[in-house]
Amino acid sequence: MRNIPAFGLGTFRLQGQVVIDSVRNGLELGYRAIDTAQIYGNEADVGEAIAASGVRRDDLFLTTKIWVDNYARDKLVPSLEGSLAKLRTDYVDLTLIHWPAPGNGVPLEAYMTALAEAKEKGLTRRIGISNFNIELTKQAIAAVGKDAIATNQIELSPYLQGRKLVDFLQREGIHVTSYMTLAYGKVLGDPVIGAIARRHQATPAQVVLAWALQLGYSVIPSSTRRENLASNLIAQMLRLSDADMAQIAALERNGRQVSPEGLAPQWD
Ligand SMILES: NC(=O)c1ccc[n+]([C@@H]2O[C@H](COP(=O)([O-])OP(=O)(O)OC[C@H]3O[C@@H](n4cnc5c(N)ncnc54)[C@H](OP(=O)(O)O)[C@@H]3O)[C@@H](O)[C@H]2O)c1
Repeated sequence: MRNIPAFGLGTFRLQGQVVIDSVRNGLELGYRAIDTAQIYGNEADVGEAIAASGVRRDDLFLTTKIWVDNYARDKLVPSLEGSLAKLRTDYVDLTLIHWPAPGNGVPLEAYMTALAEAKEKGLTRRIGISNFNIELTKQAIAAVGKDAIATNQIELSPYLQGRKLVDFLQREGIHVTSYMTLAYGKVLGDPVIGAIARRHQATPAQVVLAWALQLGYSVIPSSTRRENLASNLIAQMLRLSDADMAQIAALERNGRQVSPEGLAPQWD
C-alpha cells in the first residue's frame, strides 16, 4: 500500500472553473493522481471535475491534506469525512498532515494517532506527512511506525534541494514527494536549465521534472494551461545524463518559497 504515483497534478491556488478545467484537462491527458488539500478550498470543484470525467475511481489516486484547525482527535476524522463528501468518494488514497504546526496546541502524537485511526476506518488508504523536518519525522515515526508513513511531501526544486532531509527520508525508506518542483516557475528561466533543455530538445519544465523523477521523487506540478499539462507529463520520457544531474545539483541556493510562520518547522 505504500507506492505513490510518480506523477500527479497539483491544485494549489486553483479555484472554481480554473481548477475544474485543469483537472478535466489533466484527466483527459492521462494524469491519474490529483493532489488537493482542505485549505485549498477546491475539493468540491475537484470532485465535480472527476465526476464529470467518467474516469473510474479505481484508476485514480487522490491525495488530500488535513488543515491545522482539524488536528484535534474529535475533528480530524469528521473533517476527512467532509473532504470525502466534497470529493464525492468513499476514501482517498493518501491523507497528509499538511504542516507540523508546532504551536497549534495539538501534540504531534495525538494528530498522528488520529490520522492512523482515519486509516483504520477506511477513510484513507495511506497516511503521510508534509513539511516535516528530520526531528518531527522521527516523532511521527515514533507515534505510528515507519511503515505507516507513505511519504513526506516537501518543497524541493533545483534551488532548494534539501539534501539532509532527503537523505534521512531515503535512509528510513520514506518516499519523497516534491512540491513546487518548478519553484512556481522561478527555475524555468535559469540558464543552466535552459542549456540542458536545448541539448535534449526538451522544455525547461521537462528538465526540472525529469531531474526530480530521476532522484526518485514523486512530482505534482500544477498548470492552468492544457499545453503545459501535456508537455510536463512527457518529462517521464526524458533521461538526463549524470553530467546534467551534476549541473542541476550545483544550482542549490536554499531558495525556499514557502515557510508560513507558526506552521513551518525549524528547517534542516
Ligand atoms: N504540501 C504543501 O504544503 C504544498 C505547498 C505548495 C504546493 N503543494 C502542492 O504542490 C503542487 C505544485 O506546486 P505549485 O503549484 O505551487 O507550483 P509549481 O508546480 O512549482 O509551479 C506551478 C507554476 O508553474 C507554471 N508552469 C507549470 N508548468 C509549466 C510549463 N511547462 N512551462 C511554464 N510554466 C509552467 C504554472 O503556470 P501556468 O498555470 O501558466 O502553466 C504555475 O504558475 C501544488 O499545486 C500543490 O498541489 C503542496
